[in-house]
Amino acid sequence: MARLDRLLANLGYGSRKEVQALIAAGKVVLDGKVLKDAGARIAVDATLPERMTIRGVAVDPPAPLVLVMHKPLGVTCSHKEDGQKIYDLLPRRWQIRDPGLSTVGRLDKETSGLILITDDGDFLHRVISPKRHVPKTYLTSLDRPLDGTEGEIFAAGTLMLDGEEKPLLPAQLDVVDEKTARLTITEGRYHQVRRMFAAVGNHVVTLHRERIGGLVLPADLEPGQYRILPTAEAETVFDA
Ligand code: URA
Repeated sequence: MARLDRLLANLGYGSRKEVQALIAAGKVVLDGKVLKDAGARIAVDATLPERMTIRGVAVDPPAPLVLVMHKPLGVTCSHKEDGQKIYDLLPRRWQIRDPGLSTVGRLDKETSGLILITDDGDFLHRVISPKRHVPKTYLTSLDRPLDGTEGEIFAAGTLMLDGEEKPLLPAQLDVVDEKTARLTITEGRYHQVRRMFAAVGNHVVTLHRERIGGLVLPADLEPGQYRILPTAEAETVFDA
């Protein structure tokens, strides 16, 4: 149960004072009845948007929320860096929710593709946990033709990246054509895919994440678009 005014403030509808005014003005309706008591206790679950409206519009989904986004090129996954942020692509209210939304791991500014955004810390940590080895697949185009040795080098589990002390876990390379390949990795080291190709004397020109575990980037999501992932779909990232 949550106090109505706190619930709406946490969903980004305004300060506690502002949402109290909204409630007093009769703009909040639950199960067809106007709610006038800011202190009312509300049962909160995923069905809330079917039951509650704010100014006649379904309330935003409560936490926990998982979004799947097609990250466009040129935006950062950081809350702090300069420039356009992935969070700027979300509605303003979603940017000020509490608990806040974070990306599940990061993609470089110049990487596109599948990214998850969530306010569910437990889900986030399960996905990025180094113990789980959730596989991530990247489609990459390269500056130079593959020479045919890369697959074996990446699969060996012995490749050492510059400045690191532990070799990479085995990764799977699937060649698409002489300058295009899919690479599946089960770790999330800094700039890992770019550094792996650099380690074999190549250079990544474009990088696009297609898949995390059993979850594939939906084909109908254009760059910059996102949608809410129902829990069962979000959990497919843990499917082998
Ligand atoms: N590897 C990279 O080099 N960059 C990414 O964005 C993701 C994986």
